[in-house]
Amino acid sequence: MSSTLFRTKRVEQSILDTEEPEHALKKSLSALDLTVFGVGVIIGTGIFVLTGTVAKNNAGPAVALAFVAAGVACALAALCYAEFASAVPVAGSAYTFSYASLGELPAWIIGWDLVLEFALGTAVVAVGWSGYIASLLDNAGWHLPAALSGREGASGFGFDILAAALVLLLTVILVIGTKLSARLTSIVVAIKVTVVLTVIIAGSFFIHGENYDPFIPKAQAVEAGNNLQAPLIQLMFGWAPSDFGVMGIFTAASVVFFAFIGFDVVATAAEETKNPQRDMPRGILGSLIICTVLYVAVSIVVTGMEHYSKLSVSAPLADAFKHTGHPWFAGFISFGAAVGLTTVCMILLLGQTRVFFAMSRDGLLPRFFSHVHPRFRTPHRPTILLGVLIAILAGFTSLSELAELVNIGTLFAFVVVAIGVIILRRTRPDLPRAFRTPWVPVVPILSVCASLWLMLNLPAETWLRFGIWMVVGFFVYFFYGRSHSRLGRHEETTADEVRGGGEPA
Ligand code: ALA
Repeated sequence: MSSTLFRTKRVEQSILDTEEPEHALKKSLSALDLTVFGVGVIIGTGIFVLTGTVAKNNAGPAVALAFVAAGVACALAALCYAEFASAVPVAGSAYTFSYASLGELPAWIIGWDLVLEFALGTAVVAVGWSGYIASLLDNAGWHLPAALSGREGASGFGFDILAAALVLLLTVILVIGTKLSARLTSIVVAIKVTVVLTVIIAGSFFIHGENYDPFIPKAQAVEAGNNLQAPLIQLMFGWAPSDFGVMGIFTAASVVFFAFIGFDVVATAAEETKNPQRDMPRGILGSLIICTVLYVAVSIVVTGMEHYSKLSVSAPLADAFKHTGHPWFAGFISFGAAVGLTTVCMILLLGQTRVFFAMSRDGLLPRFFSHVHPRFRTPHRPTILLGVLIAILAGFTSLSELAELVNIGTLFAFVVVAIGVIILRRTRPDLPRAFRTPWVPVVPILSVCASLWLMLNLPAETWLRFGIWMVVGFFVYFFYGRSHSRLGRHEETTADEVRGGGEPA
């Protein structure tokens, strides 16, 4: 039994599968497309919304250090991702990588985990987008009925119609084709980066040095109450849960980690890349470096403009300008944020459908979903199914609760990928790797430690929810995936051939 759970799919087989005409995606993306893709999905709710929340509640001006800590963890993971993505250039990201190195069950776990990351991530960003749009509509004097403005703030029934509409619209765009969406993405990314640079440059004129004092506020005990909301690490060691101080920086890092999610999505587009061996590492590392520099600069500027205790938690970048008497800048930033969040949502949705596609191509999910559209060459079936489900989820979702759940799923994927790099070096040393992670196994081990550390700084209730999702995943695998696995069926056919000595059926 354990041999079937850990059967691995040969890397060559993964690449061959992508060449079957009815399951082949169009190869149209370059390194620049990938970098734009990366920046397009990385800069989003994390910097536009969470910066204010964590500065106010967990870290003060030291939120900049939290970004550095999260960025270091991501850079380590990116070095591992880049080796895998260049060695196994097929759709599915960490899922495919682990199928080739760790075996079917770990691959299933990671695929299931990525579905959580991308589906909930898409929903979270759609809800953030809807908030900015609603605020722009308010400025124009249009007000949506409370029941259609989302779960939060509505008494009784609440459905976020804007968030749901966005997801459905993006679903149609993705069905029509990646190239169209990549082109659209580059325009939106340009607007988003302009807004971020505006915050940094214009905002630096309004910095007051006294706002940085103290840069790391003193640790404060958290009121006794719901222990499940305290970071797991604090409960494990029986520490009194606290905010701010040095531990507050790590709590903040585990939350603002959300701001970096997306560079791994670049790896999910490997199969659609013209020259994955060369372009994937460039795309992944390039987009990560650009975003880290921008985040640190934005958080230093914003916490310098306003005392951290006064920062807004819903639109901190725009409100910091409003409070310094520059509403025009605030409007421009809100508009850019709303536009920018559109691409984040679209690329997360794209990553999600590609993982689902890869899993169904392997038979772990129904094969019905692995056919590509005859004209558009896109996996239209999973795109439509998941688009509709996520639209419903986005309509009923509360933003704050889910961002942490997305983070824990993503960090878990990073742990598996880093372990996979070490294993694949041993099991397949011969495999050509356009990019090699430096100092193996030191870098992958550091990556595992950094990701685990951030996971431990997430609330205990997030761990609980994550555990439930994974248990459901085990049931689906044992009652469907294991018996329908294409790899398993291939092994059975081969075994029958050996026993019967005849031709396969
Ligand atoms: N990194 C993306 C964001 O911050 C998911 O919205």
